Amino acid sequence: MSSKNILVTGGLGFIGSHTVVELINAGYFPIIIDNLSNSDLKVLDGIEKITGKKPVFYNLDILQTDDLEKILNVNNISSVIHFAAYKAVGESVEKPLDYYYNNVSGIISLLKAMQNSNVKNIIFSSSCTVYGQAADLPVTERTPLIKAESPYGNTKKICEEILYDFSKTGNVKVVSLRYFNPAGAHKSSLIGELPLGIPNNLIPYITQTAAGLRNILTIFGNNYNTPDGTCIRDYIHVVDLALAHVKSVEFINKFTDNYEVFNIGTGKGTSVLEIVNTFENINFVKLNYSIGERRKGDIEQIWADCKKANSLLGWEAKLDISDIVKDAWNWQKQLD
Ligand code: UFG
Repeated sequence: MSSKNILVTGGLGFIGSHTVVELINAGYFPIIIDNLSNSDLKVLDGIEKITGKKPVFYNLDILQTDDLEKILNVNNISSVIHFAAYKAVGESVEKPLDYYYNNVSGIISLLKAMQNSNVKNIIFSSSCTVYGQAADLPVTERTPLIKAESPYGNTKKICEEILYDFSKTGNVKVVSLRYFNPAGAHKSSLIGELPLGIPNNLIPYITQTAAGLRNILTIFGNNYNTPDGTCIRDYIHVVDLALAHVKSVEFINKFTDNYEVFNIGTGKGTSVLEIVNTFENINFVKLNYSIGERRKGDIEQIWADCKKANSLLGWEAKLDISDIVKDAWNWQKQLD
């Protein structure tokens, strides 16, 4: 039987930390590596308070292949869940080389370390960004991929291609999860999202505005071809997303093929205005917002077809946008 030891790169980040909690809840032993570039050591305490267990932690950059290899060997790792990557779309346009170096060289370094230490299973954080604006909605895993809008999006596409090519050698089994819009926080409010500086994403911008840290939320355009004119996305609660990783670990040990990709969303599209209204109604908070210009690079609408994940992973989202805005607000309220 394979060991229950799972290496989680970027395990102190937003999605990583929630996944570590759900791995522990499911009886796994997550071993975290994180270089703390966009996370905080205090997250370890949050994980310990929720689960009663403190996972092994290494402060390490995934580009340090030799050290990675040692960690993989010493800890008898059976699968790797790879979160460690830069993720800001706008910043990636300003600093493309940093993004390609960190995200693409990062995965190559990790795969080399895995090959040298004979670790075969990897679960990769991909993104619905690889679909761009699809002609037909919802998008399935067979929807054609288009040229990425940003260097960030392109790193996700390139990493998927690297994983696919490497899987063909038989050295590795890959599950690539294409996340839709992750949001929310753990219901304990002990872990959640910690955006660096001004948030780019809608939900943290809303919670920071409601908390008085930002003056006003700008809704980027209300003249799209959607029912209320604002963009539509598929918002997935971070705890549901974390559980998709646990299901992927179970799946990867069993499946005989070498490469599988899954959409991870709710299957439901929600507009920006619907999010704002739900936030106000659920939390009894008035939000200061106005309608502004469209944001460059935004697609009009996307939501997921998740039937493949439902049937092969045995996973489906259980939480909805009411849970997302409630948990995100509770998390925001207890931050300093
Ligand atoms: N939005 C606003 N105001 C804000 C922030 C966002 O109106 O202050 C709107 C956006 O225009 C968009 C929606 O809220 O319609 C969601 O925007 P986010 O920035 O939260 O999320 P995106 O859909 O733009 O980003 C997601 C993923 C990225 C991925 C990107 C690709 O979070 O990882 O899709 O388009 F790269």
